Amino acid sequence: KNIAIFASGTGSNAQKIIDHFRNSGLARVTLILSNKAGAGIFNIAEKEQIPAVLIDKEEFFRGDRYVKLLQEKEIDLVVLAGFLWKVPSNLVTAFSGRIINIHPALLPKFGGKGMYGHFVHEAVLAAGEKESGITIHYVNEKYDDGGVILQERCAISPEDTPETLARKVQVLEHQWFPLIVERLLTSE
Ligand code: GRF
Repeated sequence: KNIAIFASGTGSNAQKIIDHFRNSGLARVTLILSNKAGAGIFNIAEKEQIPAVLIDKEEFFRGDRYVKLLQEKEIDLVVLAGFLWKVPSNLVTAFSGRIINIHPALLPKFGGKGMYGHFVHEAVLAAGEKESGITIHYVNEKYDDGGVILQERCAISPEDTPETLARKVQVLEHQWFPLIVERLLTSE
């Protein structure tokens, strides 16, 4: 099976997924899309020899170039790993139930536009939460809104800063995201 990853950041989650499936008979990461020129994910793609495409915004939101590309590459699962744009409805429809995202907090709290990276962890700490975690969910046309697949939690201590909380959450992401991708591909 073929996995496409959409990523715009450093790509640490993408790297974990690539590693997880490196010697797998089940699936492989065969395509990477990013909306950010120069993002770390392009270095990973080059090193791993995975085709990587810089998304053209106009085409992404108005055309069907990327839906066609995903179909031509026979992509089975689209994985958003640090991708900050909404997914347009033609893509959601074409890959219904086959697009997932990871969010670094326990949705439905601390989600939505602008809630990414350190903004999330700052908001969680400012709210005085006792725990945070990750949410892996299906993607629809709204930010952070589709059905939840998995949530995992970590405790927040009074000493936590956005940086230390980010690290705790990242451990959970790296531990669980590849496993959930595998589970979804196996149960298809
Ligand atoms: C992760 O925290 C993920 O939850 C969020 O974006 C971040 C991506 O990090 N959606 P990386 O690029 O995989 O390191």
